[in-house]
Amino acid sequence: MKQALSGRFAAAGRGNDDAQAMRVVSSDDPSALMRIHEPSVNLVVWRRTPDASVLAAWRDGSPAGSTVVDGIVRPGALHAADEPACAPSVRDRFGVFAQDVLVLSRWMACIAGCVEVRARLVAIADDQCRLFHVDEPALRILSTYVGPGTQWVEEGVRRERLGMGGLPADAFNRALLHPGAAVHQARTGWVCLQKGDAYPGNRGRAIVHRSPPIEGSGLRRLRLTLEPSGYCRYGPP
Ligand SMILES: [Fe+2]
Repeated sequence: MKQALSGRFAAAGRGNDDAQAMRVVSSDDPSALMRIHEPSVNLVVWRRTPDASVLAAWRDGSPAGSTVVDGIVRPGALHAADEPACAPSVRDRFGVFAQDVLVLSRWMACIAGCVEVRARLVAIADDQCRLFHVDEPALRILSTYVGPGTQWVEEGVRRERLGMGGLPADAFNRALLHPGAAVHQARTGWVCLQKGDAYPGNRGRAIVHRSPPIEGSGLRRLRLTLEPSGYCRYGPP
């Protein structure tokens, strides 16, 4: 399987066997996350540099496969000057990652137009979902603090085969993707904002992605997932 790990985000060429080709936006600027609302965009990647001091401070005692934290964050306004650096409830639950969880939760609340964000921090040592697939939730942020990040395919997907059963994982993926389809992968610390099937008007056009296969490699991952909780306006306040 061809892998282009970071660089190419071509919008032209063979499409997704969709009526309308979808595209990925990639940027060093977090404000690009708002572009997820563009009808032709189903993934925005914020290519940020991970905070090395935070990662160095993490001493993980959690067994692989366990949920480190699963909680609701009420992040407040994105640029509220009177907000404390980090709410105590967030700091207590998310430890050295608290400030980052709060920042990313604020982005999610602003983008989704929601008050609450569900945040999950999970330690992973297996393949999770090895099959390429689409997600149902309208919006989801994935960021991998430790280990390799999410993989996605922008072009060359036979979408009519998504969810098809009866094949081993590798055979399924080969059947799903056109030969030569590029598999992109987020680097550690990057923020992937995915648009799922439940986003208004997006059914059948969600980003095709999977967790990176790591089982048996000795690699581990620590991944943050953020989703809107409750009512969403799907737009900024
Ligand atoms: Fe997924």
